[in-house]
Amino acid sequence: MKQEQAPFWEALVAYARQRVVPFHTPGHKLRPGAFSRLQEELGTGVFALDPSDQVEAPELEHDFVRALDRAQELAAQLFGARRTLFIVNGTTGGVHFLLLPATGDVLIPRFSHQSVYSALVLSQGRAVYLPTAYDPDWLIPLPPVVSAVQRALQEMRPQALIVTHPTYYGTVSDLEAIGRLAKENNVLLFVDEAHGGHFLFSPELPKTGLQCGADAVVQSTHKTLGSFTQTSMLHSNNDLWFSKAVQAQQVLQTTSPSFVFLGALDEVRRVLAAQGEELVGRALELAQWCRHRLAEIEYAELLPAHLQADPTKIVFSLRQLGLTGIEVERILRVDYNIQVELSDYYTVLALITLGDTSETVDKLVHAVRDLAARRTHLGGQPLPRYRLDFPELPPAALSLREAFFQDKELVPLEQAAGRVSGAFLTLYPPGVPLIVPGEVFTKAIVEHARWCAGIGWYTRGLMAGQKVLVLKDNGGRCRTVR
Ligand SMILES: Cc1ncc(COP(=O)(O)O)c(C=O)c1O
Repeated sequence: MKQEQAPFWEALVAYARQRVVPFHTPGHKLRPGAFSRLQEELGTGVFALDPSDQVEAPELEHDFVRALDRAQELAAQLFGARRTLFIVNGTTGGVHFLLLPATGDVLIPRFSHQSVYSALVLSQGRAVYLPTAYDPDWLIPLPPVVSAVQRALQEMRPQALIVTHPTYYGTVSDLEAIGRLAKENNVLLFVDEAHGGHFLFSPELPKTGLQCGADAVVQSTHKTLGSFTQTSMLHSNNDLWFSKAVQAQQVLQTTSPSFVFLGALDEVRRVLAAQGEELVGRALELAQWCRHRLAEIEYAELLPAHLQADPTKIVFSLRQLGLTGIEVERILRVDYNIQVELSDYYTVLALITLGDTSETVDKLVHAVRDLAARRTHLGGQPLPRYRLDFPELPPAALSLREAFFQDKELVPLEQAAGRVSGAFLTLYPPGVPLIVPGEVFTKAIVEHARWCAGIGWYTRGLMAGQKVLVLKDNGGRCRTVR
């Protein structure tokens, strides 16, 4: 089997070309029919390529089950894995498949994506945390350092460790050293590579999770590699765990995965095998060019190189001109018709991918230059600098899973000390939870959450009237209201 083939995509196109008269789902019967506005925007192809997963007829060369196996094998070969799964529910789905079989402690950085937390609601595994450190100048959450991982592995002896590689901002841990530690300690290493699918294709980018010895990784192929939203891949080099992940997939995934999605994953893989280095290389060139030109703009600052291992993530700030990242995002959208990926107090993140061109980069640079000039003219003053001082992680009375199934009630935040939380209270940005279900509100957490609410810092999980969800009767635990 060759990388120039795309067996699933080709089987799907062959099926569409046969114009089989469909008396099967889906109800649109492979034609836009009554849905003229869908046809106008999507064309007819997307309908023709969307049969249900029940159809099968090897004599017509569209044995989809076999074709999917072969497509996944080719993806495994390309990404350096023993086995690969195509996923139609994003990296969220893949992280769920990897962690559902966990039965022991799972060590997770506190700033992990919510899919890691939700996986540990589903699973019998129990979350134990690596606290988050922040860069004091840029206020971005940093991935764990090797010494912190080493200490945690030795003290907690978890079954598994999951690392985000890279973070949203393009920052990475020393994953090779962490891979060695995981092996020495006999701990499974999983990598949330949602933002790192392109790492394979350039030596200028960090090594991939699998190259660093991970047992399995999950990549959002849709985020940095150009397939459709919702499509991801799970790559594994641990056969035993892979078979457990497949069982988890059978439990959690829809029984009708979109063939358009699976076909797109296959065809994107075929193109990447042939041109990945060139396409990602081009994106890197554009990103370097963008960075260079942004750096020439007076008062524009770029995230320094030691914080950013992935140059395709352009993180910049106009804080010297008194603009928060959130304001810059809004102005770029409203005045320049540009939408960035995210923003926070200081920074804006613009992603450059293989979908960009010199024109798109030029538009961004011009807009930032124009905005900076307008603002300089108005005499912008630098933004006040904050320190991020988070309270200690609160003690856990129950696991995420145990807390999930308990009855809950709303109480005013100021009365929450001593109560067991029924929900996440998460500050956005940076998306790190102050407290998670099952943890006990301390006075310090309550005070910090009140302070955040007071300055208007958006806290997901804080309800109207500054109420929080707690367990009724503290989940059967003695209620120690301090
Ligand atoms: C670090 C991280 N992990 C996992 C995910 C989930 O990815 P998906 O949207 O493919 O489900 C995201 C999504 O933003 C993410 O940022």
